[in-house]
Order: sequence, then structure tokens, then C-alpha cells
Amino acid sequence: MAGLLRGTNAILFVCLGNICRSPMAEGIFRTMAQQNGLGEIHVDSAGTGDWHIGKPPDRRAIAKAAEHGVDISGLRARQLAAGDFDRFDLILTMDSANFDNVTAAAPATRHDRIHRFMQLALDRTEDVPDPYYGGPEGFEQVYRMLTEASAALQARMAG
Ligand code: 4NP
Repeated sequence: MAGLLRGTNAILFVCLGNICRSPMAEGIFRTMAQQNGLGEIHVDSAGTGDWHIGKPPDRRAIAKAAEHGVDISGLRARQLAAGDFDRFDLILTMDSANFDNVTAAAPATRHDRIHRFMQLALDRTEDVPDPYYGGPEGFEQVYRMLTEASAALQARMAG
């Protein structure tokens, strides 16, 4: 594991729409990396779907992040692209469906870069649940999971 993380300088977070979970992960991870002095790491996010390309994050995601001092209002959704498998050392998915879709799109030589974020960071099999159709408590739960996972991963990257 230390070997995997030591060489990491570019991380891509992936969810379905790239307007809720993965932009929150991008913003939380980047802000925390700056605070931890890991600021040279390139952080980005993308969706497996194409419905929201060019759109800002969901307003509930923007508000939840802002509540915690993380500004994601300038992010714009994009779809996962073939070049991402070369450009990013780690591709971290929010749930198992994302993981299966990303893996299916990736060349076999890049499969070792793709992980479920909770699994890699916390050794937990749970998904980061899609909050899109639920209430505000879903965004709070996503925020807490992403913060805990980001802190755990960065502690190992720094150590
Ligand atoms: P995300 O949430 O994958 O966390 O960005 C979703 C946003 C939009 C849709 C699904 C999930 N959608 O079906 O439009």
C-alpha cells in the first residue's frame, strides 16, 4: 500500500453524474491537501454518465461543502475520458457500480489504478451513497464519509 500511495501525484474521483459526490470529493481532498502541505497533487473529478456535462455541482453539494469552508462552485461536470487512464495514478470511485463501469472502460494495463475510495482509504466495503434523489441528510452523510476517507488517505500519503 505504501508503494501505491508514494508514487501518487494525480488523483481522479469518479461518480455517476459528476455533480454531487465526486466534485465534493475533489474539493474536500484538494482543500485538505493544501492544509496538509500535499498541495502539489493534481486532483480532478469526472462522471461515468454524460447528462450533466458543463454544469456546476448540484446546489445542495455546493452548499454542504461551503458549510465546511470548501468552495466547489467553480467546478464543471465532465465525463470520464480515455486519456484519464494515463493521466491519473489513482482513479477512486464512489460506489461499486462506478467501479464496474470505470473498470470496463479501462485498458487491462490500467486496472490496478482503479479503486473504490472507501475500500482503499478505510478498508470498508460500503458505497458512498448517491444523494441526488434523497434529502439534505444524504449530503451530510456524503460529506462525512468523504472527509474521513480523505483524511485517512492523506495521512498515509504523508507518512
Ligand atoms: P452523483 O449524483 O453521481 O453523485 O453526481 C448523481 C447526479 C445525477 C444523477 C445521478 C447521480 N442523474 O441521474 O442525473
